[in-house]
Amino acid sequence: MAILTGLPAGLELDRDAIDADLKRRQEGYGRSPRQQIEQDRVEVLAGLRHGRTLGTPLALVVQNRDHKNWTWGMSPWPPEGEPAGKGVKPVTLPRPGHADLAGVLKYGHDDVRNALERASARHTAVHVAAGAVAKALLASIGIAVHGAAADQEALHARIDEARAARDTVGGVVEVRATGVPPGLGSYATKEDRLDARLAFALMGIQAVKGVEIGDGFALADRFGSDAHDEIRTDRRRDTNRAGGIEAGISNGEEIVVRAAMKPLPTLMKPLRSVDLASGEEATALVERSDVAAVEALAVVAEAAVAWELARAARDKFGGDALVDFVAAHRAYVERIEWR
Ligand SMILES: Cc1cc2nc3c(=O)[nH]c(=O)nc-3n(C[C@H](O)[C@H](O)[C@H](O)COP(=O)(O)O)c2cc1C
Repeated sequence: MAILTGLPAGLELDRDAIDADLKRRQEGYGRSPRQQIEQDRVEVLAGLRHGRTLGTPLALVVQNRDHKNWTWGMSPWPPEGEPAGKGVKPVTLPRPGHADLAGVLKYGHDDVRNALERASARHTAVHVAAGAVAKALLASIGIAVHGAAADQEALHARIDEARAARDTVGGVVEVRATGVPPGLGSYATKEDRLDARLAFALMGIQAVKGVEIGDGFALADRFGSDAHDEIRTDRRRDTNRAGGIEAGISNGEEIVVRAAMKPLPTLMKPLRSVDLASGEEATALVERSDVAAVEALAVVAEAAVAWELARAARDKFGGDALVDFVAAHRAYVERIEWR
């Protein structure tokens, strides 16, 4: 469930477009067939009437259709009847790289299940729905956001290799945003910086271990003359090494952000671990899992970037009603003569 605040009234939402993004998240090379069993769909509990936002909080739900198999095992109240379905047996074999060990130690659980379910990336489904709403708002001022694996061909080859070896892989995703005017974000505080907000949003996604804006880490090895984007008389640039952001503010060029995903921690050939019940050496929990979720991450990262850009645009242009938001954007780009 997600509750979205700050959306102007009068924004038209397309249920099929939101569901299409949910579908993209479920697909992708390297995911197991369990992802495709049933398609995620968005439900709206509040804030929308006949497909248009009301300017009040928008409450979105994406049901987990697998939940029916867990009604006994994950029952919020002491369950009645005979134990049945998944989650009946406690998990005591923490997986290196997952939330399992740190989670049970932190919260004092006996059953790793109490940590791993909430830590799981299932949560990203509703974030993708929220991102689709953000993209609709951004589209009203000509901004488009798209995420994809950085090198799809090489990724697919590595996934094939990992699948054959019953292993997992990660990869790099890239999100690009076009039509962003100069002036979103601010250098005033670190919380206002657009690059900081994007990095925070991307690092907040499970399994993301690195984020770079524009040429990012490669800039560290270059001379300054080779690292910045010269300014033409029309105030545009011939290069975009900064990835569209300078001093925490969009500079009018394409926003380019990359995120590195580690290999998924649930392994078919498990790593060494400890049985928390006996204290004996053991191997980690084996569950049916994906070989890679890089293309799914691209969709989640796209949603995260869209959400942050929508927030920054809303900060800049305000407006309780969409017409006011659009008018403020138009007045601004006219003032700075941006085209
Ligand atoms: C879209 C997506 C799908 C994921 N699917 C799996 C999976 O099938 N199996 C798994 O072990 N980890 C999966 N993960 C990664 C774990 O959720 C993540 O590694 C774990 O919660 C530990 O957090 P950390 O990697 O941020 O340290 C997925 C992550 C994302 C973003």
